[in-house]
Amino acid sequence: MSGTANGSLTLTLDGSNKSLSVPLRSGTIGPQAADISKLYGSLGIFTYDIGYGATAACESKITYIDGDEGVLLHRGYPIDQLAEQSNFLEVAYLMLNGELPNKAEADEFHKGVMHHTMLHEQLRSFFSGFRRDAHPMAVMCGVVGALSAFYHDSLDITNEQHREISAFRLIAKLPTIAAWAYKYNIGQPFMYPRNDLGYAENFLYMMNAVPAEEYKVNPILARAMDRIFILHADHEQNASTSTVRLAGSTGANPFACIAAGIASLWGPAHGGANEAVLKMLEEIGSPENIPAFIEKVKDKNSGVRLMGFGHRVYKNYDPRAKIMQQTCHEVLKELGIKGDKMLDMAAELERIALHDEYFISKKLYPNVDFYSGIILKAMGIPTSMFTVLFAVARTVGWISQWKEMIEDKTQRIGRPRQIYTGSPLRDFVPASKRG
Ligand code: CMC
Repeated sequence: MSGTANGSLTLTLDGSNKSLSVPLRSGTIGPQAADISKLYGSLGIFTYDIGYGATAACESKITYIDGDEGVLLHRGYPIDQLAEQSNFLEVAYLMLNGELPNKAEADEFHKGVMHHTMLHEQLRSFFSGFRRDAHPMAVMCGVVGALSAFYHDSLDITNEQHREISAFRLIAKLPTIAAWAYKYNIGQPFMYPRNDLGYAENFLYMMNAVPAEEYKVNPILARAMDRIFILHADHEQNASTSTVRLAGSTGANPFACIAAGIASLWGPAHGGANEAVLKMLEEIGSPENIPAFIEKVKDKNSGVRLMGFGHRVYKNYDPRAKIMQQTCHEVLKELGIKGDKMLDMAAELERIALHDEYFISKKLYPNVDFYSGIILKAMGIPTSMFTVLFAVARTVGWISQWKEMIEDKTQRIGRPRQIYTGSPLRDFVPASKRG
């Protein structure tokens, strides 16, 4: 373990003379962690932590979150500085390599990624195997998983060059797969990528262009999309990233691992929340219905949550939500949208929630998804594609975390234990003797 050993705590098993000195580990910043790896061997007991709220499952140098203060750093750089001054591919380089690139490194990385944007032509036929009305996340799970059936030449995870090519391929091909999932759904021809365009620009081109006409991507919208990608690029050991790491810990190839991450991201408690926010706003319908909706959210028996609010780690305003809110205003202004009903309702919901004792006492604040759906909708992106865009961006974080794990010499297969609550040992009863 490279985190420094820094003191210890002593655990004593009540009613016995057994005790264990548990070393404390410190990272660069953030809370210390008790290294309980010897606990079972010494005292014969497991730790129990549903949802892993107090468990550090790995060491990582990529992302740091201080949930109480609302801080998010990638390789030490604050998210607001990256969103305002950097671009998505530069952030991708930073995550993968640890440092910001100089001009030559950035150009080479850009070329390296864009060189891989096309899909193997035979992958086209996979799309027609899906129903036209399939959710694009279902198509993403299938087609991304299928990449390992096409790129055999980069599947050796012990080979550094293979790992790098796979990373390039995933970052480069995800926008093409995402745009084609959309085109297939609406029955338009697939648009091949254009490597002379920027990363986000190329994605918007493949989504919106048709072969019959020239199409120019609005640079303000391309910039907004790039920023949305940056804001979603990585978020430490969240559910989908942990899924990628767990799948990767078995030695599975990176394409299979990222497909597992996409499946995990799909749920409404995670990446599916941006889609759920818009559905919620549509259901509320108009501002006068907000107070009644808030009452429903506060009633535990209703099962209704204020989507886009609350976070496992942030007990303060999600720093990404602030930038997203600002981007939202910029995009609506650029598109000449004045007084957007959805945005007005979201602002009113936020205002009421931030003054309500229920949300204050539970430290529930807007998260990254509260405003992202409104921007994407204004940009003409259909609701079903919201989580897909999240997957495109998060691929950078997933592959960086996967690479970091594979290159970590202390890495072992992930294998949690359990508290067994089923039947104790009993003898088999033949069918003729069962009551
Ligand atoms: N609306 C109403 N009540 C909530 C909400 C919400 N959005 N979120 C949490 N609570 C309540 C919850 O009922 C619980 O109350 P009590 O202590 O009385 O039982 C308390 O707050 C703690 O909630 P929890 O479910 O134990 O917290 P968690 O850390 O397990 O869940 C969360 C975090 C993000 C799943 C949850 O806040 C949530 O469901 N939010 C809405 C969905 C959402 O916006 N997800 C996107 C997260 S950010 C992007 C991403 O990660 O992909």
